[in-house]
Amino acid sequence: MTHQLSQPADKTLYEQIADRIQRLIAEGTLQVGDRLPSVRKLHNQWSVSISTVLEAYRLLEDRGLIAARPQSGYYVRTALRAPGEPPQSCPLPKAHHVDTSLGFRVICSIRDSQTLRLGAAIPSMELLPIAALNRLTGQVLRQHQDLAHAYDVPPGCGALRHEVARRLMDAGCSVTPDEIVTTNGTFESVFLSLRAVTQPGDTVAIESPTYYGLLEALEILHLKALELPTHPRDGISLTDLEAVLKKGEIAACAIVSNFSNPLGTCMSDERKQQFVELLAQHEVPLIEDDIYGDVYFEGTRPKAMKAFDRDGLVLYCSSCSKTLSPGLRVGWAVAGRYQAKVEQLKWVINQTTAIAPQLTVAAFLSNGGYDRHLRQLRRAYQSQMLRMTQAICDYFPAETRVTRPNGGHVLWVDLPQDFDSLALYEQALQQHISIAPGSIFSPSGSYGNCFRLNAGLIWSDEIDQAMQKLGEMIRQQMASG
Ligand SMILES: Cc1ncc(COP(=O)(O)O)c(C=O)c1O
Repeated sequence: MTHQLSQPADKTLYEQIADRIQRLIAEGTLQVGDRLPSVRKLHNQWSVSISTVLEAYRLLEDRGLIAARPQSGYYVRTALRAPGEPPQSCPLPKAHHVDTSLGFRVICSIRDSQTLRLGAAIPSMELLPIAALNRLTGQVLRQHQDLAHAYDVPPGCGALRHEVARRLMDAGCSVTPDEIVTTNGTFESVFLSLRAVTQPGDTVAIESPTYYGLLEALEILHLKALELPTHPRDGISLTDLEAVLKKGEIAACAIVSNFSNPLGTCMSDERKQQFVELLAQHEVPLIEDDIYGDVYFEGTRPKAMKAFDRDGLVLYCSSCSKTLSPGLRVGWAVAGRYQAKVEQLKWVINQTTAIAPQLTVAAFLSNGGYDRHLRQLRRAYQSQMLRMTQAICDYFPAETRVTRPNGGHVLWVDLPQDFDSLALYEQALQQHISIAPGSIFSPSGSYGNCFRLNAGLIWSDEIDQAMQKLGEMIRQQMASG
């Protein structure tokens, strides 16, 4: 092993060491059963402290890649196989009315607390800073006894908008607090943005497959959806986007820009810029949902599409739901030239977001150790994602393909064309396991052979067994088909 360690920003030394060893396992240089160098040897060879090596080995244990044997050292536990990736999607080039009744049935079925929620895109509560948020809520209520109970008007809590503006610099955006409107979560930001830029009957271009909640918003607003071919790594095909823009058929485009749901896509900066410029040439607004942008696994925070917006045509939407608390319902929108419209819609629909949760999130962002918390959260999501991918390799048939996102916490599983993931969903639910069947992510009901898995839950024997059961059910269905 060589000992030059690069210095990617935002990775600690022990994470760099763990990543380096993980690469050696992935390349097959280190194989199952191989003994890793002793802690002392690595300490000498790589000139790092003993505790740094131990931390790196602990991280690899968390990722399920190595195991300690008493009195003997650390050994490679698994071969880190990488299953095939799904190809670019190929949806029908036709605008669809949206019907989300099946999706809503799936959502309701996960209310049962006995069900292991492997479909919904939710984090484990244990990974969120609940105690700190509760403490801050108490402080906020004591400090702002009247304010927390008063009426307010959009754009919402100034302290929160200030913190969000500061954080958005990491995403390459320079916006002032005045340009931000606070909302009840990303969903509301997307809903208000869509409403601001479209009229009923309009067509909106979307990724395929796409975030299920976006389809719900399109349905309620009587908008049609035009699915565009989307690659799990490169995102929407720019050629196809250009072709529909030239036809002048779309009123807006709506995407999840970083570690999308369900594909996990994160476009390069270059493609993001081309994407934004293409839409700007045709004066078509872009609704950007960046809810997963802070949970990247490598390098630095990916840029938002908004960073390339020169014309005020990007309506940026996000929240703290995947990083701090989904239940506080605190989100925000930076709506560019549509800001006044979004503020008016927010006022008419529900006036403002509750003030106390906004103040709590503002306090956490300003002095709650958000960056430290994010480092732990990213580490957990990455480990869980890896464990889940390994379980897919171990338990699912060899034909299974799965995405390899570099952030977020969802995986998209792709099985042979005639596989029925809705039948798998029904069967798994009988055993108190929920998955998200692929067809709920498409207005045309495509992806019946796919499903989404949530890697946001802390890995446990229960999850491992559930993955094993899912693998058996998949094999049975494929054998009987
Ligand atoms: C891509 C995406 N956007 C928005 C949401 C909803 O966000 P919020 O809870 O902030 O409304 C989710 C939740 O799963 C999501 O995955």
